Amino acid sequence: MRRLAAPLIALLATTACTTMETAPMAQQTRAGDAMVSPILTTPEAKDNQTYAQPQIARVTHVALDLDLNFDAQAIGGTAVLDIMAEPGAEEIVLDDKGLQITSITDGEGRALPYEIGRPRAGANDDMGAPLTIRIGDARQIRIAYAAAENASALQWLSPEQTAGGEYPFLFSQGQAILNRTWIPTQDSPGIRQTWEARITAPKPLDVVMSGVRQGEPEDLSDGRRAFRFVMDKPVPPYLIAIAAGDIDFQALGPRTGVWAEPSVLPRAAQEVGDTEQLVAAAEKLYGPYRWGRYDMIVLPPSFPYGGMENPVMTFLTPTFIAGDRSNNGLVAHELAHSWSGNLVTNAVWGDGWLNEGVTSYFENRIVEAVYGKKRAEQEASLAFANIQETLDEVGADAPGTALHNDGEGELVGSAIAYDKGHYFMRTVEGIVGRERFDAWLRQWFDNHAFEPATSQMLYDDMMANLVRSPEEAERLMLREWIFEPGLPSNVKRPDPAAFAEVDAAVGAYANAGTIPSSWESWTSAERQRFLDNIPKERTANQLAALDRALGLSQTGNNEELFLWLELALANRYQPAVPQAETFLADVGRAKFVRPLFAVLAADEQWGMPIAQRVYDRTRPTYHAVTRAGVDRVLGRTD
Ligand code: BES
Ligand code: ZN
Repeated sequence: MRRLAAPLIALLATTACTTMETAPMAQQTRAGDAMVSPILTTPEAKDNQTYAQPQIARVTHVALDLDLNFDAQAIGGTAVLDIMAEPGAEEIVLDDKGLQITSITDGEGRALPYEIGRPRAGANDDMGAPLTIRIGDARQIRIAYAAAENASALQWLSPEQTAGGEYPFLFSQGQAILNRTWIPTQDSPGIRQTWEARITAPKPLDVVMSGVRQGEPEDLSDGRRAFRFVMDKPVPPYLIAIAAGDIDFQALGPRTGVWAEPSVLPRAAQEVGDTEQLVAAAEKLYGPYRWGRYDMIVLPPSFPYGGMENPVMTFLTPTFIAGDRSNNGLVAHELAHSWSGNLVTNAVWGDGWLNEGVTSYFENRIVEAVYGKKRAEQEASLAFANIQETLDEVGADAPGTALHNDGEGELVGSAIAYDKGHYFMRTVEGIVGRERFDAWLRQWFDNHAFEPATSQMLYDDMMANLVRSPEEAERLMLREWIFEPGLPSNVKRPDPAAFAEVDAAVGAYANAGTIPSSWESWTSAERQRFLDNIPKERTANQLAALDRALGLSQTGNNEELFLWLELALANRYQPAVPQAETFLADVGRAKFVRPLFAVLAADEQWGMPIAQRVYDRTRPTYHAVTRAGVDRVLGRTD
């Protein structure tokens, strides 16, 4: 075996070690007995968004002891890492984006030499840099550090950005590669780690994490409290998450509950009141929920996503609250990730559809089980329209439209990873039948639980455990679905009956200006379909008439409000501008904010000045994810 005494700089230049596959296994640890999951040694599982070299040395457990300083907007303390390494391995490489490290020591407190290397040429800025530590024979290391200033995973909110207006708030968003800005570890989805944390925070703030809280918080003498958390199952490190603020908890059922700011909690709890049923439906489909509790936190509105599937603690935007549970597909979605994503995880981000596409399909099955076939088929139909719109826009054979993406690994909008992934599963289900498909998907989750997965693995697994004959293989078109661009011809299209009434109403409106009279009784999906499909060019009078008749600007459903504002701004509808401004100032969810700025920016004369003026004010209130998106749209570089 090659000795790993290479000078630091030479080690940094090598890619994943290729000499280790036959090496004897190193010591056993909590995260499993293999050095790395065997799948990580295949070329398609090589993650080019990490500097880690897990075949040589890898983190198996992270123990954080961190203090939250809201005055300085700083988080710092120590991270103790358990390491599994090949015999003779002398170095471990971690991912580091701007961490301020004060010391790195071994278990006995002896200093270990380390170096922060140069970013790989051409690497995306988010990748940060390799942190290489000369571990010698140490298999536990202690890093004293503080998070990067402006760590992009973290958003520190001023009291004004919360519903209560009295206390500050903090939350993190790790996916895809943001956690390296506040946790010194190997930040790759294939490198699973157990973790624990002790977090101190000023009273009366409460802290939640994506791990199980241990007992009651401990009162410290300085007006602070210490909270302890444990995640005893190995998880990909992007799933380590934290939130802290003036939050309360309300139980929903024996194993479910919701956290939110006190003034938001009643509405939040009402909206997610079906959660026990959703969990039961998910389990009935694809096997036991393996994470113990399923709790959620409804965050302040600057949270950049609709939801994030942090284990045992889904993070949610408050903008999904509509009063009628019509956006609960979001909860079903994040819950479904407890299987597709958190149990079986894409080894590389270029296979993100394994998380998002399988989850979108699973989400739809939960929605069907709990809310019925009609609603599920309508939501699936919206997803199909999204695929079609995207393919029309980028071209049906654009390479980024393959599910497996071997480019730089960013998800190509939502249409491919989410909706094409969903339609792939749906199509296979349609061909082999629900019973066989469900048995297959369940064994996929069971047989790969707590493991990374690749597109190739899923293909092989379907060929081995699902497909019964060469004729069936041909009918399924698996390779085409996974590895080729566009939409295969066998796609199981949505049932046109799902939106028959709305589509007729769209026709009547487009042709004769007839405003639908049954709007009030329509589902939210039906309203969204209508707003999506009516003619895009509207006069101010037409918009005013629509708003008057349908109460669009008054809607309590943010999905509908967003579509209205988008339509209005695209048509220079001045009366909508103040409301759009308020919306953009209150809400930081990228899915809403970015397109609204994009619509304004597309109109150089009228819209762009509005966009620039509003963004000057709102930019500092957005999370880094949203800011990066809007910066691109508005051509800002700072
Ligand atoms: N895991 C995603 C959010 C995500 C994706 C974060 C990619 C970072 C990179 C989450 O599960 C998600 O898909 N959220 C959607 C929910 C929707 C599809 C129901 C969202 O936020 O809109
Ligand atoms: Zn998702």
